[in-house]
Amino acid sequence: MHSIKFLHQDIHDQDSLQGMVSELMSQMGLDEKIGQMSQLCGGGGWVPDHLAAAIRSGQVGSVLNEVDLDTVNELQRIAVEESRLGIPLLNGRDVIHGFKTILPIPLGQAASWDPVIVSEGARISAVEAASSGVNWTFAPMIDITRDPRWGRIAESLGEDPYLCGVLGVAMTKGFQGTDLAENGSIAACAKHFAGYGTAEGGRDYNTANIPENEMRNVHLRPFKDLVDANVATFMSAFCDLNGVPASGNSWLMDQVLRQEWGYEGFVVSDWESIIEMSVHGFTGDDEEAALEAVNAGIDMEMASSTYRDHLENLVAEGKVDLEHIDRMVVRILTLKFKLGLFRDPYTDIENFPDLLNEAHLQIAKEAATKSCVLLKNDNKTLPLSISGLDSVAVIGPLADDGYEQLGTWVFDGEAEHSITIKNAIESLVGSNVTVNYSRGLDGTRCKHHEGFGHAIDAAYQSDAIVLVLGEESFMSGEAHSRANIDLPGHQEALIHALAETGKPITLVIMAGRPLTLENIVDKVDSILYAWHPGTMGGPAIADLLFGLESPSGKLPVTFPKMVGQVPIYYSHKNTGRPPSAESCIQMDDVPARAAQTSLGMASFHLDAGYTPLYPFGHGLSYGEFHYVKITTSKSNISLGQSIDIAVDLINTGERQAEEVVQLYVRDLVGNVTRPVKELKGFRRVKLNPGQRERVSFSIHTDDLAFYNRDMKLVTEPGQFHAWIGGNSDAPLWAEFEVHE
Ligand code: BGC
Repeated sequence: MHSIKFLHQDIHDQDSLQGMVSELMSQMGLDEKIGQMSQLCGGGGWVPDHLAAAIRSGQVGSVLNEVDLDTVNELQRIAVEESRLGIPLLNGRDVIHGFKTILPIPLGQAASWDPVIVSEGARISAVEAASSGVNWTFAPMIDITRDPRWGRIAESLGEDPYLCGVLGVAMTKGFQGTDLAENGSIAACAKHFAGYGTAEGGRDYNTANIPENEMRNVHLRPFKDLVDANVATFMSAFCDLNGVPASGNSWLMDQVLRQEWGYEGFVVSDWESIIEMSVHGFTGDDEEAALEAVNAGIDMEMASSTYRDHLENLVAEGKVDLEHIDRMVVRILTLKFKLGLFRDPYTDIENFPDLLNEAHLQIAKEAATKSCVLLKNDNKTLPLSISGLDSVAVIGPLADDGYEQLGTWVFDGEAEHSITIKNAIESLVGSNVTVNYSRGLDGTRCKHHEGFGHAIDAAYQSDAIVLVLGEESFMSGEAHSRANIDLPGHQEALIHALAETGKPITLVIMAGRPLTLENIVDKVDSILYAWHPGTMGGPAIADLLFGLESPSGKLPVTFPKMVGQVPIYYSHKNTGRPPSAESCIQMDDVPARAAQTSLGMASFHLDAGYTPLYPFGHGLSYGEFHYVKITTSKSNISLGQSIDIAVDLINTGERQAEEVVQLYVRDLVGNVTRPVKELKGFRRVKLNPGQRERVSFSIHTDDLAFYNRDMKLVTEPGQFHAWIGGNSDAPLWAEFEVHE
C-alpha cells in the first residue's frame, strides 16, 4: 500500500506537503494524472463493476453521490489497496442545507443575517456528512441573483454581494473548520463560478450577459471573499457568460481566479458542463470541449468523461501542455493530503456523534427561528397568547407536511424527522388551547374548493387563524423556475374565503423564493415568512407565533409587488430620471388622451410604481426599535483612514428583542456610476425593553473601493452618504467626505 509512506509526514508544514505531492507526482503516469482529474458518480449503496475497475486502474480521482458508509469505505479500500499508487478518493455530496438534520434553505439562512448560526449550521452538516464518508461538499452557492423566478434563488444567499460574502465565508468556515484534516471537517466549494444567477428570464441554465464592470463590482465579489477565506474548491457554472460558457472561460478561470486572485485550490466543472459546451455551440465535439475546458483551467471533470477519453491524445498532439496538467493534479492531490486522506482514508462511525442528535436539532431550530421574517403585524396580531386564546385554527396544506418544509436539495434528510407547525403548536399550547386543524387544500397547487368548507368551520370555531401556505419544495431549486410567482393553486382564494370570517389571520409562508403577495397582503393581519425552514421548522415557528421568541430575520432579497418589476433590488443605479412619489403617476389616475409629457417622465411602471412590496433588509420584531442621533466621527477623512458612523438604537417595546442594524453607503459621484446604496455593515443587537445602545460601525476607505472604467479597484475621493437603520429604506442619514 503506497500511502503508508505518507503516514507520518506533516501535512501542516508547507514544505513537507509540497514534498509529498512532488514525490507522488514523480511516480505518476499521464493516465493516472488524468484519472485524478476525473470524477465519477457512485452507485448509491453498492460498488458497480465499472467503477471498481476504473478506480483500480487509477482512472478516478473522485466519486460523488455515495453516502452509504460501507460502500464509501469499500471504494476507498479499492483505491488505496488495489490501485497502483494507492491514492485515496475525494467523495463529494451536495450538502446544501444540512445532511440528516435539515436547516432552512440557504436563502432562509441568509435571512438570519447571522454568520455565527450560519457557520454552526454548516458545521453540524459537515459532521453528519463526514460520518457517512463524505469529505467534500458542493456548497456554499454564492451566486448573486436578483430574480425570484429563478428556482435556484432558494440555494443562494440573496441579492447582495456583501451579505452573501460574509455569510458564504461563515458557511465555508463551518464546513472546513480550522483544519481540513480534523474529524468532521469537509472541503467546501464556491459555486457556480460565475454569473449563473443572472440566467435570462429567470429560466435555469439560461444565458448570462454581464458587463465586466458589473461582474467585478457585484458577481465576483463574494467569490473573492471565499478565496481569501481559503475555500478548498471552486465549481464552474453551467451558463454561457458573455458568449463563452463558464466551463471554457479562461478569462474567469485563468485571468481572474489564478492570475489576479492567486487561487491555489482546484476547480471542478459542474455536472457534464464540459460536454454541454458543444450543446451551447461553443465546441464541436467532446474532444474540443475537453481542450477548451482544460486549457481554460477546469481541473476536474464532473460526471462526463471527456478528460479520460481525450486528454492523453491532446497532450500527445501538443495541444495541452503537460506542465499545465501537472499543476492541476498537484492542486487535487494537495487537497487530498490536507484532508488527511493519505493518513486515514476510512471513516469510522464510532468517531462521530449520532445523526439528528439534540445539539444538532437545537442549532437547526435556532437557524429556523432567526431566519423567519415578520413582514407585517397589524394591530400586534402576533404574538398569540396561550393564556388569551381558547382556540386556534391551524389551516393550510403546509401546516402538517414534514416533507415540504424541508425544501429543495434534500438528498439525505427525511420527512419523518420533521416536526410540523401543527404538531409543534399542539405540543406548545397543550390542553390550554384547542387546535382546530384543517388542510383547506389538498396541496399548494390544488385548484378545487372542496376543503374550504371545513377550513371555514375551523376558523369560525377558533379565536385566531394560523394559515400555512406557500410552495411545495419542488417549486424551487435546480431547473425549477417559475414565471408566475404568486401563491400557486387556489391558495389566494382560500385566504379570501377565510378573511370573510373576520377572524385575525396570521399567514405563515413556506417558500423557496420571494412570492408576489400584493393580491393578498391586505387580507391578512400578519405575515411570517418562513422560507422552507427544515427539520425543526415547526417548533421554531410555534415559538415565534406564541412569543417565546421574537422574530429577528431580515429580507436578504427584495420582495416585488408583481413579477413584472423583476429585476428589482435595492442597490440599483440612480438613472438620469429617478422616480419620486411626486413624479410617479398611477395608471388609473391618468386622464384619457393624456399627453406624452404629462406622465412624470421618470423611471417607474405606470401600473406598479417603482417601490417593492418589501425592501431588502426589512423585517419586524416584537420589540419596537427606533434609530436616532446618527453621527460620523469626522466630517472628512483621507484615503487610508477610517471613519466611525454611529447611531442610538432604542427598544421602546415591552419585551426583549434582537434587531439587525444595517449600514448603507452611497458614493455620490464615480468614474463609473455607483449604486444608490450599498450595504457596508450589519450587526445583531439584543435590547431589553427601554434599553438604549450606541451602535457604531467603522468604515475604512478601502471598504468604499469599486472597479472603475479601467477595471482597477479604487476608492475615489468625494462625497458619501451613509444610512443606518432597520432596512435598506431607512431614512436616517449622515454625510462625509473622502479626500486624497
Ligand atoms: C448542480 C450543482 C451540483 C451538482 C452535483 C449540478 O446539477 O448545478 O450545483 O453541485 O449538480 O450534484
